[in-house]
Amino acid sequence: MGSLMTETEMERIEESQSKEAILYVNGVRRVLPDGLAHLTLLEHHAINACLAPLYTVEGMHVITVEGVGNRRYGLHPIQESLARAHGSQCGFCTPGFIMSMYALLRSSQKPPTEEDIEENLAGNLCRCTGYRPIIDAFRVFARTNDTLYTNGSLQGLSSAEFICPSTGKPCSCGLNKDDEETVKPSTCSGDMLKPISYNEIDGTAYTNKELIFPPELLLKKLTYLSLTGLNGLKWYRPLKLQHVLDLKARYPDAKLVVGNTEVGIETRLKSYHYPVLISVAHVPELNQLIINDEGLEIGAAVKLSELVKVLKTVLDQRPPFETSSCGAILQQIKWFAGTQIRNVASVGGNICTASPISDLNPLWMAAGAKFCISDCRGNVRTCMAEHFFLGYRKVDMASNEILLSVLLPWNRPNEFVKDFKQAHRRDDDIAIVNAGMRVHLEERDQKWMVADASIIFGGVAPLSLSASETKKFLIGKCWNKELLQGALKVLETDIPLKEDAPGGMVEFRKSLTLSFFFKFFLWVCHQMDGQASFNESVPASHLSAIQSFHRPSVIGSQDYEIMKHGSAVGVPEVHLSSRIQVTGEAEYTDDVPMPPNALHAAPILSKKPHARILSIDDSSAKSSPGFEGIFFAKDIPVDNMIGAIVADEEVFASEFVTCVGQVIGVVVADTHENAKCAARKVHVEYEELPAILSIEEALQSSSFHPNTGRCLRKGDVELCFQSGQCDKILEGNVQVGGQEHFYLEPHSTLIWTLDGGNEVHMISSTQAPQKHQKYVARVLGLPMSKVVCKTKRIGGGFGGKETRSGSVAAVAAIPSYLLNRPVKITLDRDIDMMTTGQRHSFLGKYKVGFTNDGKVLALDLEIFNNAGNSLDLSLAILERAMFHSDNVYEIPNVRINGKVCFTNLPSNTAFRGFGGPQGMLIAENWIQRIAMEVKKSPEEIREINFQSEGSVLHYGQQLEHFTLKRLWNDLTASCDFLTTRKEVEHFNLNNRWKKRGIAIVPTKFGISFTAKFMNQAGALVQIYTDGTVLVTHGGVEMGQGLHTKVAQIAASAFNIPLSSVYISETSTDKVPNASPTAASASSDMYGAAVLDACKQIKARMEPISSKHNFGSFAEVCLSLL
Ligand SMILES: Cc1cc2nc3c(=O)[nH]c(=O)nc-3n(C[C@H](O)[C@H](O)[C@H](O)COP(=O)(O)OP(=O)(O)OC[C@H]3O[C@@H](n4cnc5c(N)ncnc54)[C@H](O)[C@@H]3O)c2cc1C
Ligand code: FES
Repeated sequence: MGSLMTETEMERIEESQSKEAILYVNGVRRVLPDGLAHLTLLEHHAINACLAPLYTVEGMHVITVEGVGNRRYGLHPIQESLARAHGSQCGFCTPGFIMSMYALLRSSQKPPTEEDIEENLAGNLCRCTGYRPIIDAFRVFARTNDTLYTNGSLQGLSSAEFICPSTGKPCSCGLNKDDEETVKPSTCSGDMLKPISYNEIDGTAYTNKELIFPPELLLKKLTYLSLTGLNGLKWYRPLKLQHVLDLKARYPDAKLVVGNTEVGIETRLKSYHYPVLISVAHVPELNQLIINDEGLEIGAAVKLSELVKVLKTVLDQRPPFETSSCGAILQQIKWFAGTQIRNVASVGGNICTASPISDLNPLWMAAGAKFCISDCRGNVRTCMAEHFFLGYRKVDMASNEILLSVLLPWNRPNEFVKDFKQAHRRDDDIAIVNAGMRVHLEERDQKWMVADASIIFGGVAPLSLSASETKKFLIGKCWNKELLQGALKVLETDIPLKEDAPGGMVEFRKSLTLSFFFKFFLWVCHQMDGQASFNESVPASHLSAIQSFHRPSVIGSQDYEIMKHGSAVGVPEVHLSSRIQVTGEAEYTDDVPMPPNALHAAPILSKKPHARILSIDDSSAKSSPGFEGIFFAKDIPVDNMIGAIVADEEVFASEFVTCVGQVIGVVVADTHENAKCAARKVHVEYEELPAILSIEEALQSSSFHPNTGRCLRKGDVELCFQSGQCDKILEGNVQVGGQEHFYLEPHSTLIWTLDGGNEVHMISSTQAPQKHQKYVARVLGLPMSKVVCKTKRIGGGFGGKETRSGSVAAVAAIPSYLLNRPVKITLDRDIDMMTTGQRHSFLGKYKVGFTNDGKVLALDLEIFNNAGNSLDLSLAILERAMFHSDNVYEIPNVRINGKVCFTNLPSNTAFRGFGGPQGMLIAENWIQRIAMEVKKSPEEIREINFQSEGSVLHYGQQLEHFTLKRLWNDLTASCDFLTTRKEVEHFNLNNRWKKRGIAIVPTKFGISFTAKFMNQAGALVQIYTDGTVLVTHGGVEMGQGLHTKVAQIAASAFNIPLSSVYISETSTDKVPNASPTAASASSDMYGAAVLDACKQIKARMEPISSKHNFGSFAEVCLSLL
């Protein structure tokens, strides 16, 4: 390797570099200005935009969803298919799915398989659809049916050849509904009166407009880059190894970057600052993949997706015994992150991060890989992978060294390497415990003896750990059951996991280490099956322990009758926004362009669960770049207290903080990054106070929210227990954990003043615009009539945006009002998760009495929920849990006592089911226990306790139209439950390690608000002279299709096409005092309100419309002028 470069020579290189950093975005040339090295990509493609530094795409063509297809030029078939298959609901995740699919199709030589498609979508989350419709939509592009994509467009497909998104086969389900049945396009004359169709863009206009790779970039050579970013950050992109080494010599602490999937997390989420970043992704010497006699040499910057390709080739071409390690690595990468990460993440980045749960490091170690390391003078040394990892994220590499490559040796005959990984879920999840294991067997005296072995675990220590005693024990022993028993014993002490080991789940993790070895033993036996003098065969019933996991492609079908009422009701219309969602044109709050002089807000958050605020030092924040203002409790114009039902929470904590993440103040600055940076610089001194976190701790300290004790009774529980009617009595506790809402769009509000603060307007992502209006009016001391909140659509809510979003809006309102400037607040995902509450955890303590047959006679239940630090909706949630504590069971004597616990957690809040699921789960727990006690199946116990028509519930409601028994009988018959259960039992008998389960669990759910006055709705229906109708109602569109359903109702009411009805947004100045969109009742409420309004309008039109023979609704409307 050459000698070190002098400073002057380095500077010469920098001078000789191209002065223009260029990239193309959707076919448009952009010159990247200097100073943006800290920024990540703003648009998506098949990598994670938020982890891709802007300068890493220099010289590339970035295609985003907007470049795939749009309303003007037509939708791409992928977009069209997803829209038609009902694959978007809130639509926030939709561009990501489109881009993953688009990238897969563009990069595939031939149509992908269904498995390829599912694997490529694995890095995308959808919180709304349950994935089935998304997979259905994309299945049409799979190998079995590639006409759509290879034709490049839908053009030319006659309607009879429409490919059904559900089946992937030609069918007629996609025919324009207007062509069928009674709905005909309006026959009104003149263009002006032609109904405007929301679905005029249906893909037929899309004509092979695939963006090409720009010729300029094709001709342009990559150049050495030296650019800057925030706070003096230096960004280098050397293109030769020598230049990397020179830079390392010049900046020994410089951070190398390839995929940025580790560095990006550190800088974005952990606020690390690296002054010098060297991007080595394009250094050829670090990207080599060389197959030689010793093994496979893999450059440190090789991307995992590249490695996969080479491993597949190697597995195809080399003798199988040589490639056991390759097979194990390939298999492990399958469960390593998602495609977007694997497309950029490098082998070296994973190794040098030295994460204790790295999936590959245990395998490099087990496989006997060698790491090739160079210092900045070019001196190269090798280090065995097994000796490279020294401690928590510490490796045997000096600051002046870099990793060059990895040598993965070929295996010897009868040498076996296997991968293991246990995560919470298979796709795209980090390991709880993982492992790499290798054994080399040699035949001696007709026995297969262990000549060499390596057993390495991840997730059990601060570093990937070699089970060295186990290795010693194995070597020299015969591979048989005695070896297994002995090795398991040694392993138990070899991998010490203390009770308080970081990561928890100690027992589980310990058992995983043993079960992995057990599986390895069986797998090796299976590999050796058939070898002369090998006698340890695997019984058929044990084979399931070693079969690799295979998930069949997702399939599903829906059966429904179309019962059409009028022009639109009853028809399975696609979501009205689906076509703008699939093109990325649908706007969410954060997409709304910022007005000039607008500011970004970042909250200052409590770092303590319970503490007194002693002092706040904001001096550093004030001198932070882009700073424009900082506000605390003392600055609140009128009222610092807000709350959903009781005003018991402060907008800004004044004296005490009562949870981590509580807002203490807000900083505003010119950019989102600068606001966050300034907020982080605020130093708060605390006096820590005892904190209560769990329900158990709350019970011990009698920590409850005031006036929340509730009791529901029916019959006489005490008497029943004492009377001796109960043959058996069981007592138990059920704990139900919380759950993050994980709406994909985080909380966001853009708020501004009008007339110098006389009015305040905002656009918010909320399920309850009226609550935003109320909170903001309250803190600013304005009448509600001067505050307007609008919501067009939200990217999921699930209850999390019913009340908690209001507090976020109130935070932004203060700087906006005091500075008279627009302010936007959009929480980062981590801040959103940290500061906003979740589903309530619950504790149920029950005592249940029943007969020997399993008939329940009495239930005594105490039930508690963990509300967190404010009451919010917790009492209503507790009450609903109490209502549902009988699930569907007739219990003659019931007593339920409930209380809401105060804890030092962010206030927990509404969540799908609103306490109902927790109540039912507790009930199903005692049902299960009764079944075990009386030795019957849970289904039998359920059936004999079913409620029936006329049953009076413990809160006084009498059941009417109660169809449970019929539904249960129909379902058990249609799925042949009893036979299936027998099959499950048979399978379980024949499979020692893999088990199946089956259950059928009934529920009943009470919809609507329990506060009855909230079950009312308003609507504003306006008709225009072109025959189109604008509907506004109080409900919020969050993916559930509320606007689609309500528009269908309006269309049917006027007997006009659905395309003539439009719903633009929800706004408190159009429909006042609306209830939150919640409680499973919005379609009923707002549908009824709109229907009522339409009927009133029709009645007013009637004197004219009945007199003349109008050809269309539009003609009637025009004649009303
Ligand atoms: C969503 C997500 C999912 C993930 N899933 C998994 C998973 O399932 N399993 C798993 O093991 N990991 C996982 N990771 C971790 C991560 O993706 C990997 O560790 C990845 O391989 C890192 O590579 P990179 O190129 O992105 O590293 P970078 O972030 O670019 O660099 C990581 C570190 O390596 C150093 N480095 C890079 N190259 C060299 C070199 N040649 N010499 C010296 N130092 C160097 C860098 O300076 C830096 O400190 C996941 C990460 C994310 C964000
Ligand atoms: S449609 Fe996927 S998250 Fe809402």
